[in-house]
Amino acid sequence: MSEVYDVVVIGAGPGGYVAAIRAAQLGLRTLCVEKGNLGGVCLNVGCIPSKALIGASKLYWKARNGAHMGILAGDAGLDMDAMIDWKDGITNKLTSGIGGLFKANGVEHRVGSARLAGPGKVVIEGEAGADAVLTRNVILATGSTPVQIPFLPFGEHVLDSTGALALREVPGKLAVVGGGVIGMELGEVFARLGSEVTVIEALPRLLAAFDPDVVRPLEQKQKKKLGMKHLVDTKVEGAEIDAEGVTLRWSGKAAGEGRFDKVLVAVGRRPNSASLGLETVGLSPDARGFVTVDAQQRTTAAGVFAIGDLVGNPMLAHKASKEGEVAAEVVAGHPAAMDVRAIPNVVYTDPEIASVGPSLEALKAEGRPLKVGKFGFGALGRAMTSDATDGFARVVGDAETGEILAIHLVGAEASELVAEAGLALEMGAELDDLSLTVHAHPTMAEGVMEAAKAALGEAIHAVNR
Ligand code: NAI
Repeated sequence: MSEVYDVVVIGAGPGGYVAAIRAAQLGLRTLCVEKGNLGGVCLNVGCIPSKALIGASKLYWKARNGAHMGILAGDAGLDMDAMIDWKDGITNKLTSGIGGLFKANGVEHRVGSARLAGPGKVVIEGEAGADAVLTRNVILATGSTPVQIPFLPFGEHVLDSTGALALREVPGKLAVVGGGVIGMELGEVFARLGSEVTVIEALPRLLAAFDPDVVRPLEQKQKKKLGMKHLVDTKVEGAEIDAEGVTLRWSGKAAGEGRFDKVLVAVGRRPNSASLGLETVGLSPDARGFVTVDAQQRTTAAGVFAIGDLVGNPMLAHKASKEGEVAAEVVAGHPAAMDVRAIPNVVYTDPEIASVGPSLEALKAEGRPLKVGKFGFGALGRAMTSDATDGFARVVGDAETGEILAIHLVGAEASELVAEAGLALEMGAELDDLSLTVHAHPTMAEGVMEAAKAALGEAIHAVNR
């Protein structure tokens, strides 16, 4: 017990590893403890591998469905082993890159499972047994775990997102329980690769956090082009799992049952706050398991900070990273705070969905006077040349001040377009700022500019109403 650290970071996901690097950059003696690979869910079994399969499956689908563009790739084939190996190569490269960054910045790294053991003390259980380290501060960054449905335990045929991302055979029939972000992204991947996909969602709509009109182009494309089935307002009630697959029964709007080779369960994630020794420093998680923090990411226990999925929604890697930087800076005595105005929310489907700020529904419910401008990508040259005319950009401003309150995007490259949208909100931009900024032609981003112009009644390439 001779070590005394300035900060011990527990967990090396996009929250924890960023916190550790930033802390070390600020001259703090920093230890990061991680029981698995560096990079957490995001790099190993989440954001990055899913985007690899999304990208690869889009290319495959285009090769088979590009005849109208003059692409005659014949019966393009699929080598699932090679695709999964390629994906794994990317995650290996990125996770070892974090190891390199730790070394370069002077972050000490230990493999093991860490927990609080009273103020200033962290116990680490590694392969060689347990020992304790002393530290002035701790940053908890242990992330979240997929929620399991009791009668659908994860196994060979019932998969969480990690299992789905490792499939080396395309299931013939795939059920996706939960029409949220993971369900829509991964359901679509397997539909493009050839699975017959049925999405079962308990709420009356898919991706309920977004406005219905934003989700509609995606729903249409999934149904019409990929043959996906969407059962909304429908709840899975029971299951029989056998050696070959799963029979699911569901009730509600589309009551019925079906037989599937695999079932992907994506009904949300819950924070990893148990087994962290929170009680040893006088902390207890809230009813949903989240650890409560203030704008400096401080818990109510002195010297204990928490970040990422552990502290609440949105459970997004980029939110966790930002909170990690804030926590490290606060530990180092800097006047940092989590005071961001815009956290982008992206769904990597085809078309992509991305937004900053509240939904239009939520803004209307506030009763505030709004100026709303919408520009359909069907009228955009670049969208046509990319064979990606589905979707639109919408800019919502305050009718009195012109301040941009939200930007909603559905279409190709929405995940990239949202960067400008985030900057606009973060800088308190007004509709004029976006409308007057010269945007390169031809780009998808012109659609965002045109939407701002439309909100002002000054659209050039659409009829102003
Ligand atoms: P989610 O919260 O996005 O969606 C879960 C869906 O399951 C909801 O629509 C819910 O109504 C439905 N549901 C719940 N119980 C059900 C039941 N018994 N039967 C049918 N439907 C049911 O959660 P998801 O997709 O599991 O993702 C987990 C987290 O991971 C999210 O918080 C998300 O923020 C994050 N994530 C983010 C991504 C991104 O930013 N692109 C990609 C993937 C995940």
